[in-house]
Amino acid sequence: MAIVTELQVNGTHCRVQADGERSLLQVLRLDLDLTGSKYGCGEGRCGACTVLIDGQPTRSCITQVGIAAKKEIQTIESLEQNGRLHALQQAFLDEDAFQCGYCTAGMIMAGLGLLKKNPDPSHDDILRALRGNICRCGAYSRIIAAIKTAARMKRQEDHE
Ligand code: FES
Ligand code: FES
Repeated sequence: MAIVTELQVNGTHCRVQADGERSLLQVLRLDLDLTGSKYGCGEGRCGACTVLIDGQPTRSCITQVGIAAKKEIQTIESLEQNGRLHALQQAFLDEDAFQCGYCTAGMIMAGLGLLKKNPDPSHDDILRALRGNICRCGAYSRIIAAIKTAARMKRQEDHE
């Protein structure tokens, strides 16, 4: 695969010099210093590395950067705007939805992908959206509560 020189990340053009076969996660973390997406299993099984590509939650550890090159990549770093946390980040804090926090960025990005498509998800919708995301600390019930709370906060924000 050809060398990738430009990426569209968090709404801005980024210049990189990366072999198109490298993993997107590696390029985000090592080349662009966007270290919010975490390396867990490296095999597409845990979801710690989840980013959105064209709005779809995607495992960046098993996505070749060449495949993501012409697409819109969104990482956890894009969520805070003007010093204000995104509803999902605030809800994770409010609901105490983490312990070690290693899964948190991936959980939030999976939640973001869900809320983009479905602003009022049911419990089952959330379970389905998080199916591939593992929390070794077992904070699942609080994570689900946080996504429900964030959905409510977001709907309120959109009506203001
Ligand atoms: S690090 Fe990508 S799915 Fe586990
Ligand atoms: S909070 Fe530790 S892995 Fe989820």
